Amino acid sequence: MQKQDRQQPDDSPKPNIYLLGFMGTGKTSVGRRLAHKLKFKFIDSDAEIEKKYSMQVKEIFEKFGEARFREMEREFIESGHPNNNCVVSCGGGLVCRDTMPELVKSKGVSVVLFSKPEEILERISKNNKRPLLNVENPLEKIKELIAQRTPYYLRSGVSIATDKEMNKTVQHIERIYKRFFNTDKRKNIEKK
Ligand code: S3P
Repeated sequence: MQKQDRQQPDDSPKPNIYLLGFMGTGKTSVGRRLAHKLKFKFIDSDAEIEKKYSMQVKEIFEKFGEARFREMEREFIESGHPNNNCVVSCGGGLVCRDTMPELVKSKGVSVVLFSKPEEILERISKNNKRPLLNVENPLEKIKELIAQRTPYYLRSGVSIATDKEMNKTVQHIERIYKRFFNTDKRKNIEKK
């Protein structure tokens, strides 16, 4: 009987995984693949905000300014997405103010992706959707923003360096998640 129970698929709600880190570190591509492997829903904070306000991020920055966009991001984290079974890719500046690192951490397991500025530049050069990097010297801007944001990133979760092979990054995050998840489960059992 016990053996049979153990074989039942575990469909209990699982904590969300939040992917954080600078623009162009691969949060979206990694997140999609990770969600597929874990059979989780994939959610992207920018896409959800764009859907809610029927406006592109770029337009939101132009019309309402960055500060308003940051409020939208906070609303998204506070109440704009499901609480479980999601991989949530978060915009690069989402955790970089106030107590956002602690807020995101309280929602699930968060992993911060770090890549070299040169790799970031290569990835983001594929489109001009990112208003903060539409400047004359984007590499300098990337370095400057990373320096400003790193203290927030370091408060936000487990930091990892991305691998050129995306699958390795996905596997790394899976291992982190399983470790957190099992430790958490053990804590709950101990409490009972
Ligand atoms: C931003 C990152 C972008 C987007 C907006 C601002 C930032 O998201 O939210 O352009 O401040 O780093 P990605 O990190 O998904 O590019």
